[in-house]
Amino acid sequence: MKQLTTSQIRQVFLDFFSKHQHQKLEGASIIPDNDPTLLYINSGMAPLKSYFLGEASPPEKKMCNVQPCIRTNDIEDVGDRHHLTFFEMMGSWSIGDYYKEGAIKLAYDLLVNHFEYDPQKLYATVYKGNAEAGIPADTESIEFWKSVGLPEDHIVSLGDDNFWGPAGQTGPCGPCTEVFFDTGDEYGPAYTPGGHFDDVNRYIEIWNAGVFMELNKMADGSFENLPLKSVDTGAGVERMYMALNNCDSLYDVDVVKPIYDLAKIKFGAEHITQKDLRMVTDHIRSSTFILSEGVKPDKDGRGYIVRRLIRKCITVAVRAKTPPIELIELSNEVIEQLKDFYPQLELQKKQILQLLEDEIVDFEPAIKNGLELLNDELANVTDKKLDANKVFILVTTHGVPFEIVKDYAMARSVSIDEKEYEKLYREHQKVSRQGTETNALVDLGLDSAHLEELTNGVAPTEFTGYDELNIEARVLAILQNGKKVEKTDSTNQCLVVTDKTTFYAEGGGQAADKGRIENDNFKGTVVDVKNHNHVYIHYLNIDEGFISQSDVVKLSVDKNNRESTAKNHSATHLLHSALRSVLGEHVSQKGSLVNSEKLRFDFQHNKPLSKDEIQSVENLVNQWIWQATGCNITEESYQKAIASGVTALFGEKYQEDVRVVRFADFSAELCAGTHVVNSGQIGLVKILTETSTARGIRRMEAITGSVAYEYLSKSDQIISAVQEIIRGDKEQLVENIFALKKSAKENKAKDSLTQTAWDVDEILEGTSGLKAIFGQIGLDKKELIDLGEKELKSRALDVAFMVSPAEDKLVVVVIVSDKNTDKMKANIILKNWIERFDGRGGGKANVAQGGINGKIDLALLKNSALEALG
Ligand code: SER
Repeated sequence: MKQLTTSQIRQVFLDFFSKHQHQKLEGASIIPDNDPTLLYINSGMAPLKSYFLGEASPPEKKMCNVQPCIRTNDIEDVGDRHHLTFFEMMGSWSIGDYYKEGAIKLAYDLLVNHFEYDPQKLYATVYKGNAEAGIPADTESIEFWKSVGLPEDHIVSLGDDNFWGPAGQTGPCGPCTEVFFDTGDEYGPAYTPGGHFDDVNRYIEIWNAGVFMELNKMADGSFENLPLKSVDTGAGVERMYMALNNCDSLYDVDVVKPIYDLAKIKFGAEHITQKDLRMVTDHIRSSTFILSEGVKPDKDGRGYIVRRLIRKCITVAVRAKTPPIELIELSNEVIEQLKDFYPQLELQKKQILQLLEDEIVDFEPAIKNGLELLNDELANVTDKKLDANKVFILVTTHGVPFEIVKDYAMARSVSIDEKEYEKLYREHQKVSRQGTETNALVDLGLDSAHLEELTNGVAPTEFTGYDELNIEARVLAILQNGKKVEKTDSTNQCLVVTDKTTFYAEGGGQAADKGRIENDNFKGTVVDVKNHNHVYIHYLNIDEGFISQSDVVKLSVDKNNRESTAKNHSATHLLHSALRSVLGEHVSQKGSLVNSEKLRFDFQHNKPLSKDEIQSVENLVNQWIWQATGCNITEESYQKAIASGVTALFGEKYQEDVRVVRFADFSAELCAGTHVVNSGQIGLVKILTETSTARGIRRMEAITGSVAYEYLSKSDQIISAVQEIIRGDKEQLVENIFALKKSAKENKAKDSLTQTAWDVDEILEGTSGLKAIFGQIGLDKKELIDLGEKELKSRALDVAFMVSPAEDKLVVVVIVSDKNTDKMKANIILKNWIERFDGRGGGKANVAQGGINGKIDLALLKNSALEALG
């Protein structure tokens, strides 16, 4: 085995796969982009999900990278030898290219020939199938492992641990084959075929060498076949280091150990258990990474995860009687260890440490109090049982981490009814989660359960809105004031379902149509439309009257709004193609938002676009618009469309037959949205901004049609107004402004001399009758001299004592008028003036300059000047 550093390990992995034609990708941000199923990226494949689903085309079929991951479902295991909540995953992928055989050959080659593992120390596990779920055993992988040379008794068939995924509740998943490293006899008995395979202590997983992604788990728990068979592998950098370097645990890894060692010093080994030390080391690594993304510790969602991690560390510190503020130094050490590979840590250092400090300051008093309460509760228990309600209050109201409550209880042999506690906690979470429902629902005081109630038993809505904007339809269901009703009884907002509709429901990044629903007895304005399991729900503001089930109503979509939205949507497709054409095929859509006002397009690209690139993209889109090409929309089989190179929209699910939107040969996308009939209708596109939303993801905002025209027209009016002031040709405006700026700068010094903004301006008269100006003004040295000379002349004075405050010091200047230089020397006067303040300086007979450190009282300075004047 090669003893390598983590940095070398990453390199060997990436070099190996690059050599085998895998495109090297940037690791994505740990904050998922457009993936509501995940709070944090938990594996290398998570940001690439849409490729496995066939919803987007990968830049290359074969790819590899190193992806930072947060995996908090392993949080309970942290403290053992080999579980971390933050780790770096080396991943390699084949999207519809090689499958099991290719993956296993590559895995064996890398491990044995490049990392130089002894095959006798390696074991491969494969999936033994699940008859109930109808998923067969993976016998092929057994054969492939044998054929590459792995001893047969090192191949172990296991159950559900060898079925990976999905990386959230739904999504791509499949059987997998994992490689384990034998850490030796001291960690447990050896595996014998048919016996127990100890994958906890003795055998440590070093690589999920192939998830064979062929299934898509649906929300109802069923599986669908994926359009492509793909391979997804993932190996923890830290685990690989642990195995290659024969470490006892991950806390010996080169980028982890310094944090562990520092924690040991800070906490004092005698005050803290090894488990807690490991936990703090791990949690501070995760927190540092999460905070670098600007996630603020919070009471729910993503922020709650990091709050929980930090608060556990704070609690451990308080318990060990170490000031929790010391955690900042640990975080700093994490940055030091990882900044070379993750420069954003260094860039965001200030933010990371500030957020951490805020949380510490916020939580420290609370946890001190909480731990006292916990001690009191434990002292008062009867029957050696701590009531679940009390635990719940300690956790939710006082912020004591549950694991800590458990630890404290265990230390006193007190038990907790964990099931009861979890029940209470789940209820509490359900209530907190309601805050994450869509705004429109929340505005109405509703949640998704109400949508279920409304649409339950209602047939899917027929959507006719591609071809017509006005129809008559029958009302099938109504919900008002949180209840399904036969008839509305007030003008409160309501939700209405009809048998058919012309209203486009929000989807694929496109906002819903707006418009009206009315009949003789009722008038309502449609403010939003959602598609809930193929039932379209119209959100209505009631203008007048009542609406009842079975009513026949007229649905009319706002034509202008629809057309403006269509322009923006079609322009988004053109923009996507233009970006690929200007920047390269790696540009893939990561999300979009299209409404009647503007379009927003998020895409993968790892650096800001230059002005020229933005200009080229805009030019190209406008060229395509002005070609006035018809928009050709067809229904095709999904397989055929993908095979013909059509781009699938990110995050969308497609039926067998899909809708393909084409503009000549420059754009073809799978899309259910509404579009212009001819690209010429878009009129014009103007890109307004290009920014970053997450690491490797750029965001462009643009406007089209009359909105773009108005924007340009307004810009032109501004230019004309400027032109009137500056005068001259429009073409020369920039040059003229530059010239003006330059002369303004040159005049600044002169202007400053004519200004009268003296802070102090006094005339001193010496005993010899010489007259001097003593003045303070905020100018630099040269300006002080110029001003002093001017004042001497214009006021016919003999000497000038000038002072100007600079950072932490005073700049001082003495000028003697020409007529006096034979009698007195400026450098001597300066010396006499500032010596007593430890000032330094020098010069000639007419001008001398110097500085005095610190703040000096002006009155003293003035007196001293008077004395120096003599
Ligand atoms: N997605 C798989 C895992 O996380 C392989 O990377 O284990």
